[in-house]
Amino acid sequence: MLIETLPFQAARHACPSPQRAVHLVAGARPNFMKIAPLVRALRAHNGALGFKLIHTGQHYDRQLNDVFFEELGIPAPDELLAAGSGTHAQQTAKIMLGFEAWCEREEPDLVLVVGDVNSTLACALVAKKLGIRVAHVEAGLRSRDMTMPEEVNRVVTDAISDFLFVTERSGVRNLLAEGRPRAAIHHVGHVMVDNLMYQCGQLAGTDTLRFVSSALKRRLRRYGVVTLHRASNVDTPEALARVATALRLVARRIPLVFPVHPRTRANLERFNIVFGDAVLLTGPMAYMDFLNLWKDAAFVLTDSGGLQEETTALGVPCITVRENTERPVTVEEGTNVLAGTDPERVQLEAFKILDGESKHGRRPALWDGKAAERIVAILHEVLA
Ligand code: UD1
Repeated sequence: MLIETLPFQAARHACPSPQRAVHLVAGARPNFMKIAPLVRALRAHNGALGFKLIHTGQHYDRQLNDVFFEELGIPAPDELLAAGSGTHAQQTAKIMLGFEAWCEREEPDLVLVVGDVNSTLACALVAKKLGIRVAHVEAGLRSRDMTMPEEVNRVVTDAISDFLFVTERSGVRNLLAEGRPRAAIHHVGHVMVDNLMYQCGQLAGTDTLRFVSSALKRRLRRYGVVTLHRASNVDTPEALARVATALRLVARRIPLVFPVHPRTRANLERFNIVFGDAVLLTGPMAYMDFLNLWKDAAFVLTDSGGLQEETTALGVPCITVRENTERPVTVEEGTNVLAGTDPERVQLEAFKILDGESKHGRRPALWDGKAAERIVAILHEVLA
């Protein structure tokens, strides 16, 4: 065993490839907006650092996937692992098997994972055990709710990553409290905000007439936007019924547009839950179409992590239908209100906004569109 592995490792270090390469991992919808600015920054760095893109196949539907690659300007992946859906163990294991084979063949100089989905954890674990350095973008966020699969993914990924790229100050504090070395922690801002700013620029030059959102905006004029897909809100009949009650209460005063995630769609049918006419259900939307919708909404009502941040970045009121958030800066400095899941509390927060009492937030430190550049500069320094 030892005899077999030694020449391989020696060869790797003695003969580094002429161009060092970062291998970027993407698997699920929220990963794609974080990868896009990193690809742009790597390309802008005069190609000094090479990159490859691995898509784990955690998300595979065109609406959750291909449309994002096209719109966000992400190149076709170098490898598609086609892991697909399953239980957490099945999905994580399939990604790990595929990614291990890729790493053994391609010998990445560094593996970069983003966010907190199963692909993030699976690929970080594989790389670390093969002795490959791991960078985690969006490190340090903590909800302290270990019933959330994403929290488990965050904690484990951060425990084994060599480079911890942090979006907000709470992340730095959390990582230090967990004993991670100061030198590994880099507060760089948020690549998702880089992407948002870039896409707002693109949107300004786009004919939006063909968008589903444009027709809805013309028809409704004033509206709220809803996204809900967390297991804790949609996976049991009780939880989903509670959410539905909240939406019906809010929709008494303002129509709601709700692009439904496949997980939520399946459970609405399974539990036979209906919302009434004032809640308009659509399929998942492409990034630009959805941005065009929510940027002009009276408020966004969500359990998504990313939208809490994107609404803060653009100053749109946000009501988070969860008991906790791993992104406290959006509440402390931004437009986010943590409403919990009690329907009357959700209604109260929505009505406050409709009565002109919304929070005025500010954009957090380093959310300036340059996070990816900072990350690439650091990686370039260590890999050059
Ligand atoms: C995953 C992430 C979550 C993220 C969300 C964004 C984990 C643990 N969860 O949740 O953090 O916020 O993505 O969307 O990684 N399905 C389809 N088509 C697809 C993908 C999934 O129909 O392309 C359906 C399948 O029935 C699947 C279900 O959605 O079983 C759930 O998909 P999965 O990737 O397991 O989790 P998400 O709920 O999407």
